[in-house]
Amino acid sequence: MNDYKIGLFDSGLGGLTILKAVTKALPQYDYVFFGDTAHLPLGDKTEEEIFEYTRAGVEELFERDCALVIIACNTASAETMRRLQDTFLPQKYPDRRILGVIIPTVEELIESKSKKALLLATKRTVESGKYGRELLKYGSDIELHSVATPELVPLIESGKSAEAANLAIKIIEDQLNGIGEIDTVILGCTHYAKFKDDLRRAFPSAMPAQAGQTTSATLKILSQDEIIPHKLALYLLNHPEIESRLSRDSTRSIHLSVHRPDYDQIAADLLGGIIV
Ligand code: DGL
Repeated sequence: MNDYKIGLFDSGLGGLTILKAVTKALPQYDYVFFGDTAHLPLGDKTEEEIFEYTRAGVEELFERDCALVIIACNTASAETMRRLQDTFLPQKYPDRRILGVIIPTVEELIESKSKKALLLATKRTVESGKYGRELLKYGSDIELHSVATPELVPLIESGKSAEAANLAIKIIEDQLNGIGEIDTVILGCTHYAKFKDDLRRAFPSAMPAQAGQTTSATLKILSQDEIIPHKLALYLLNHPEIESRLSRDSTRSIHLSVHRPDYDQIAADLLGGIIV
């Protein structure tokens, strides 16, 4: 029966950046997004709260006929993936799958030949130590510095992405002064894709100096909206048992735990989608 969809879960706007990117890369499939706006920001909740909210969000997406759910949130990926995969899935939805965003990002970092990287992420993602552990599992010797940036999600969610960008630039500059040269910044929160272009202008990646350049440091900026689409394509190629169950009517629907009027326009601009 091929009438299943691809689901995406996040607290809010970050997940929509991933939705936009995957629908652009793989437009033929049907997508359902669930944003747990009631619990924004997830990044400063407890481990147990994050597990509960994520489990409920994933369940909502499974009930809406998703065969595969992308947890488009680093905080939730860090705190829940193992538990969901080890207990919740086998017990309740043995024929469904979930994917996180951290392992694909760590793989990308390793492939990028980085030597020393800076992770910007939420408080819980940094405290979980998940990025460092995954790097170790791959036997990587990349030197990873992590900094919690809890101010950024609330700024982005209140429409102040330019302020968030300036703050992120300042945080990176402070880190460069403190830890010395780095070659890569990992945007380890899906919301941060919103200001990736500002960071690239501020820290041009081994390119000739550009107008508007504010610093001489050259950095590679890893943004998950540019990583997840090709990792998803690869996953579907390698998992025909999931891919063959997916419907191909190019529909998108967006559901929020608490309706936010300011998302209506964003969703319409992003997807021509509807919010329920
Ligand atoms: N977008 C989520 C992430 O990638 C976090 C947002 C939040 O704190 O709610 O971690």
